[in-house]
Amino acid sequence: MSDQSILTNRHSARDFSDRPVDLETLKAILYTAQNAPSWENTQPWKAYLALGDTVDRIHRSHRELTGNGTKGWTEVMPPKVWASMPQANMDAWRQNMLAFFTDDEKPRFAQVQQMLFNAPAIVYLTMPKDASAYSAYDLGAFGYGILLAAEEHGVSGVPAYELVRYPAEIRQEFDIPADEAIFMGIALGYPKDNRLNQLRTKRTPLDDILQVRQ
Ligand SMILES: Cc1cc2nc3c(=O)[nH]c(=O)nc-3n(C[C@H](O)[C@H](O)[C@H](O)COP(=O)(O)O)c2cc1C
Repeated sequence: MSDQSILTNRHSARDFSDRPVDLETLKAILYTAQNAPSWENTQPWKAYLALGDTVDRIHRSHRELTGNGTKGWTEVMPPKVWASMPQANMDAWRQNMLAFFTDDEKPRFAQVQQMLFNAPAIVYLTMPKDASAYSAYDLGAFGYGILLAAEEHGVSGVPAYELVRYPAEIRQEFDIPADEAIFMGIALGYPKDNRLNQLRTKRTPLDDILQVRQ
């Protein structure tokens, strides 16, 4: 099996340079990602792209809110308790992360979250508030498409819960209808050449997640 493709080369970047990504490139990425499959082509997603002064205001707001300890509530809540398999993978990811970064570097991982990864571009993905789990599946396909299309354009990204922790700071910048839920954010940009961006993740051995009958 070949190991060289945009799927295997892509990884999350968490510290972006201040080099902007031009709007035409970002639109090309989103346009390509719209080819994602969805239930009977429902395409239940919308995208809101923050750049320039808008993204600067969101950065300032986020630093202020995290700095003064304001509790954040996403519009789509993660589970309080995860099922054992994803929980075990999450634990392994945390161990991997803690082992990779030195004690001096660890605080920087938390800091960049507050800095929204210094991203020059953030795209927020919404879906109808009363959407089913199938729409969440579709929105995820659109989001992954954005990351892969970005990779094709030499742009890096990270999908992050952190980006949508304070929906009010996003809603005050866009006209997002009340019946849409802000589900995810994806930070996009050109990565700085540093250790934060060198973190790599592993995947479960295929045979642990696959049953074949023939
Ligand atoms: C729904 C979702 C939420 C995420 N939230 C965060 C986040 O808040 N902060 C962060 O640093 N990474 C976040 N990530 C990135 C994951 O940690 C990352 O995708 C995973 O560890 C696999 O690593 P890779 O993207 O480098 O392959 C999130 C990813 C997804 C899909």
